Amino acid sequence: MNGDNIYSADLAEIIITEDELKKRIKELGKEITASYNPEEEIVMVCILRGAVMFMADLAREINLHVVFDFMDCSSYGEGTTSSGVVRIIKDLDENIEGRHVLIVEDIMDTGITLKYVVEMLKTRNPASIKIVTLLEKPERRVEKHIEADFVGFEIPNKFVVGYGLDFAERYRNLPYIGVLKEELYS
Ligand code: PRP
Repeated sequence: MNGDNIYSADLAEIIITEDELKKRIKELGKEITASYNPEEEIVMVCILRGAVMFMADLAREINLHVVFDFMDCSSYGEGTTSSGVVRIIKDLDENIEGRHVLIVEDIMDTGITLKYVVEMLKTRNPASIKIVTLLEKPERRVEKHIEADFVGFEIPNKFVVGYGLDFAERYRNLPYIGVLKEELYS
């Protein structure tokens, strides 16, 4: 089933299958829906580009009024480790003052990106800010003063690609999450 993808030969292993993604995202949607008042509207902020797939699937599992916005910030170049520097490439279009913001991330690694984004968005006086991340690498955390409210999967410190996550911009369209063979990036 998963073997016929153009990228499957580049993977050392598959760590999260399509079915597992679907099931967990459904659960996250329920948890998130239950955490707000039913009449509240939330502004889902997708952190480009990795969170695009997750945002699209998660939004369909959230039973609330939802508005989409997008922010592009980058901490990695074409390498595999965080540079520690966050650049805002595209800011929000929506005014979030007095509104409920849900930040949607694909992966929380060092935590530096989310810490920066949350601090910046707080200055705009939203009614609330929550974070949902599909993946989290607890071993890699540098920034201790930030936690996601909702986490899809905790994963080990391996270089993962697929379902939005890239290596040098490729592999984002792989429909599941796998570990890239080390010889491809080392
Ligand atoms: C990745 C990921 C997060 C960030 C996490 O983005 O999507 O935004 O790194 O790392 P951190 O917790 O160490 O800060 P990246 O800059 O690779 O951009 P992309 O989503 O466009 O691939």
